[in-house]
Amino acid sequence: MALENPLLPYIATITKVIDETPDVKTFQMVFDDPGVFEVFKQKPGQVAQISIFGVGEATISITSSPTRTGMLEFSIKKVGRLTSVIHQMEPGMKVGIRGPYGNHFPYEMMKGKDLLFIGGGIGLAPLRSLIDFVLAPENRKDYGKVEILYGARSSADLCFKYDLFDNWPKQPDTKVYVTIDRPEEGWDGHVGFVPAYLEELNPNPQNKVTITCGPPIMIKFVLQALEKMGYSEDQVVTTLELKMKCGIGKCGRCNIGSKFVCVDGPVFTLRDLKKLPPEF
Ligand SMILES: Cc1cc2nc3c(=O)[nH]c(=O)nc-3n(C[C@H](O)[C@H](O)[C@H](O)COP(=O)(O)OP(=O)(O)OC[C@H]3O[C@@H](n4cnc5c(N)ncnc54)[C@H](O)[C@@H]3O)c2cc1C
Ligand code: FES
Repeated sequence: MALENPLLPYIATITKVIDETPDVKTFQMVFDDPGVFEVFKQKPGQVAQISIFGVGEATISITSSPTRTGMLEFSIKKVGRLTSVIHQMEPGMKVGIRGPYGNHFPYEMMKGKDLLFIGGGIGLAPLRSLIDFVLAPENRKDYGKVEILYGARSSADLCFKYDLFDNWPKQPDTKVYVTIDRPEEGWDGHVGFVPAYLEELNPNPQNKVTITCGPPIMIKFVLQALEKMGYSEDQVVTTLELKMKCGIGKCGRCNIGSKFVCVDGPVFTLRDLKKLPPEF
């Protein structure tokens, strides 16, 4: 079976819903036709268009690693019309999924390197697909040390607590650093913004690639901090979140200069980003 029409959504059933934070839920979904998994071969960093019948579509990163087969996971923040409706949905209910779209994290280029993931808020969702891909037993030997620096406004706003505090720290040669923006009763971990914690940790750029995703303001200061620490433009990988519609380079909704974020992105190196018009 091949994807005959790249705009056609495939019907999927929600099989599990995880409450991550007060406004983020993770939805596990399974295609009704198991044959669709044979053609829906996502790579870490790619996105899908999720549709809810009678409501519309939204672009959502595939947060599950391709090494976890037979289901897809999407972590969705409630911000508007579609995301509010999906937040009310329960296991057994149907959605449409089309994709996978966009480029992916350059995991081949990262082989043999140490990896530093830097995430903020819901920005950990796309990073998680690569983190779990790299940490999968079949891939772990291809990569060096894995470090994950993640922050959110408060402890309640931390996504994927089961990964941050349980699954990932148990993995070999893996370290997780978590921070929240402001002090909080009962929180004895780090307090401060992600870029400030990054400067404090001052990770050595030697043989390292950093992959960052989060709110634009966090990305801006993280990129500045990394440059100050001596990271080259090719050692810094990030994602751009520009509103999309078709997902296949046809409608022009996600156009920046000569690039379409839906096909040329959402993953860019800092070198790529510097070639884009300055407003981005
Ligand atoms: C490449 C990419 C990956 C994404 N991955 C995720 C993800 O993993 N999880 C997740 O929760 N969200 C993700 N998003 C954002 C998600 O697409 C939007 O939040 C969603 O489309 C909002 O739909 P809605 O109908 O609920 O909101 P709407 O009712 O359409 O909008 C609500 C408000 O949010 C604004 N808005 C909507 N989408 C965007 C956007 N993309 N950028 C800036 N402002 C926007 C609108 O202008 C409006 O003010 C991603 C977006 C892109 C482009
Ligand atoms: S979303 Fe239509 S061209 Fe990118």
